[in-house]
Amino acid sequence: MPKIYSKRLVNARNMVHDAFKNHYAIGHFNINNLEWTKAVLETAQSTNTPIILATSEGAIKYMGGVKVVRGMVDALMETLDITVPVALHLDHGQSVEMAKECIDNGYSSVMFDGSHLPFEENLAKAKEVVEYAKQHDVSVEAEIGSIGGEEDGVVGEGELGDPEQAKKMVETGIDFLAAGIGNIHGPYPDWWKGLNFDQLGKIEDAIHFPLVMHGGSGVPQDQVEKAISLGVAKVNINTELQLAFQKATREYILANKDTDMKAKGFDPRKLLKPGYQAIQAEMKNLIEWMGSIGKADQIEK
Ligand code: 13P
Repeated sequence: MPKIYSKRLVNARNMVHDAFKNHYAIGHFNINNLEWTKAVLETAQSTNTPIILATSEGAIKYMGGVKVVRGMVDALMETLDITVPVALHLDHGQSVEMAKECIDNGYSSVMFDGSHLPFEENLAKAKEVVEYAKQHDVSVEAEIGSIGGEEDGVVGEGELGDPEQAKKMVETGIDFLAAGIGNIHGPYPDWWKGLNFDQLGKIEDAIHFPLVMHGGSGVPQDQVEKAISLGVAKVNINTELQLAFQKATREYILANKDTDMKAKGFDPRKLLKPGYQAIQAEMKNLIEWMGSIGKADQIEK
């Protein structure tokens, strides 16, 4: 069966493996709307950087479904003439059906997150996703252990990934692996102990394979760099860009620019502009940390 995704997109396999080999990381940026997508794509193009555009199931629902996301991304890639490698990725797909739906509708990469399931079930379902994805040249991410985060108002630490489970998961034919290494989605709480480099080292020693660091927002630069040196080749960012957008929008409103009737400061094209620019500035900063800036030409398409 042929590829379903547009010719402008690539899957994320080659870019993440190039990063793994050359000790840098590909930025995975979660998108929320048109402005977000355009800001991220323009920054990738202007800095010659390969990237992954990602949508959670929640973001897909918010934007109107997979067809809307695919249509928006494809059309922006064409009209902005984006030539750097870009993958469109499902983030934390909760079921085999959701992964298949995204593949059938033009995603070039999917994550199956069975970390909430018993391991054998997680493994079997990941295998099923891999089998389907390979038929359409789509890359696959799976997860072992779990990423910490907020649930019912309480921020949990997550569960460390187990090297033996990592080995078995890699054997399914996935392209990169997310593992719990003390990382947490959302802002890091005061009690956070930092990334668990011991565990990261043990997992990497067992698999020699690209790892994904979820919860990339708020991890200090030295820890990001150390994680990359130990095998992390994809860093997921959501909250950091949301905070940059929020801060700039808040400043605009607190300066009463939105109520300036003469300048039409209420026009969404003006109201959302500072946030849009803040996303671009923050993203530039992050891809510099990750070392992926300027790497577009070395990725095999
Ligand atoms: P943050 O929101 O903490 O950046 O996490 C993003 C993420 O891991 C998406 O999968």
